[in-house]
Amino acid sequence: MAKKFLIRTFGCQMNEHDSERLAGMLVADGMEPTEDLESADVVVLNTCCIRENADNRLYGTLGHLATTKAEKPGMQIAVTGCLSQKDREGVLDRAGWVDVVVGTHNLGSTAGLLRKAVTDGPQVEILDAPDPEGDLDPSLALNAVREASHTAWMTIQTGCDNTCAYCIVPSVRGGEVSRPIDDLVREAEVLARRGVREVTLLGQNVNSYGRDITKRSPLFAQLLREIGTVDGIERVRFTSPHPKDLRPDTVAAMAEVDAVCNQLHLPLQAGSNTVLSAMHRGYTAERYLEKLAMARDAVPDLGVTTDIIVGFPGETEADFEQTLAVAAEAEFDSAFTFIFSPRPGTQAAAMTEQFVDPDVIGDRFARLDAVVQRSGLLKHEARVGMVERVMVEGPSRRNGDVAAARTTQGKLVHYAPHDAQALQAGAIVDVKITHGAPHHLEGEQVALVEPTRVKRRLEVRS
Ligand code: 5AD
Ligand code: SF4
Repeated sequence: MAKKFLIRTFGCQMNEHDSERLAGMLVADGMEPTEDLESADVVVLNTCCIRENADNRLYGTLGHLATTKAEKPGMQIAVTGCLSQKDREGVLDRAGWVDVVVGTHNLGSTAGLLRKAVTDGPQVEILDAPDPEGDLDPSLALNAVREASHTAWMTIQTGCDNTCAYCIVPSVRGGEVSRPIDDLVREAEVLARRGVREVTLLGQNVNSYGRDITKRSPLFAQLLREIGTVDGIERVRFTSPHPKDLRPDTVAAMAEVDAVCNQLHLPLQAGSNTVLSAMHRGYTAERYLEKLAMARDAVPDLGVTTDIIVGFPGETEADFEQTLAVAAEAEFDSAFTFIFSPRPGTQAAAMTEQFVDPDVIGDRFARLDAVVQRSGLLKHEARVGMVERVMVEGPSRRNGDVAAARTTQGKLVHYAPHDAQALQAGAIVDVKITHGAPHHLEGEQVALVEPTRVKRRLEVRS
């Protein structure tokens, strides 16, 4: 009987996509996926280490799995991804019941190491640089086991060449490596033939995509134009660009290529120039706002989201008030706000003398949240009465009769579908917005614009 595997993913979209690729690899190795821990022969934890709570969650989960494994002899546990890359053999020191530890550069080794561990005991394989043959092999992405049929992630670049003082990513994911543009276009074409209508391009610093290939200018604008004109790809999203590298050619491609969505996630991190400089972000608050204005001028009705860190070492009340002021001026649609977390090996972790008092951070965090919630709600309320063209994700998680769909800005919309076609993943529907809630919109179906291509093909055949 085929072995069953269960993958639990922590962290960002790139990790989610790595888990899909890993699932494809395990299926190719003869295993079957399961969601049920009781019946899993192999449990893979694909990990993150961006903040300390990600570490804690992983080791907490491993603690629970020790009990499960004690009751199920023969069960294997693999730990992959960023935290493995950071802790290496240390994962086994803290959780001796783990069978396989694989880092960020050799995901493709996981299936083989699981087999080897059965006879030879625990396996740890961490590389210090990407395996050019292994990790970015196009077939890994094409064989990925995807949950959704209409939308797909595409990793365009791994690693990061920046030196943000708080960030552990460059040390775990290494320097920037871009995948060849032809591979990516081919991948998008294959995905489109399989019914995918939306792709999200992933990288730590997408604006610099291709700089390692040309040794000069980035190729991101060209990539957007090429992927955006692949037949069948109706929507292209991307995350994340770095404000210092956001260039007019990217913004022009966003404006000119219909398929590229009106959505920009532009991490601000802080609004004080002193803090931005200590973070090594490479821009001032004024420059950030100029870049944002450039994007908004070129792309009308652009949805803008951001990341902000509260309590970076040395952040004063005056610095924080600058962050509040810039956040208010930027009028974000939504923001991911984080409490600074010292990560081992980063410059900021060594600034212990300047750590901000946790109570002060808690208070600032709540004040920032109030500002971004307010601008988000105002943005949503302002959309009431508009007709939005949305792409359907499927039934909403809470109520199967309600459709969940996304606007070009990436906003979640709930509405009652008129028929089964308007509930089908990938269908395009015009919806009139009737209510703006803090984190989603509600609307009424106006018209089904088109059902999915997959559906159309089935209709032609029958
Ligand atoms: N502490 C808190 N937040 C962090 N981020 C990255 N590193 C840290 C850290 N050490 C946030 C940044 C980044 C997002 C993905 O996570 O805001 O944009
Ligand atoms: Fe993603 Fe960074 Fe977390 Fe790794 S450490 S999973 S790259 S967020």
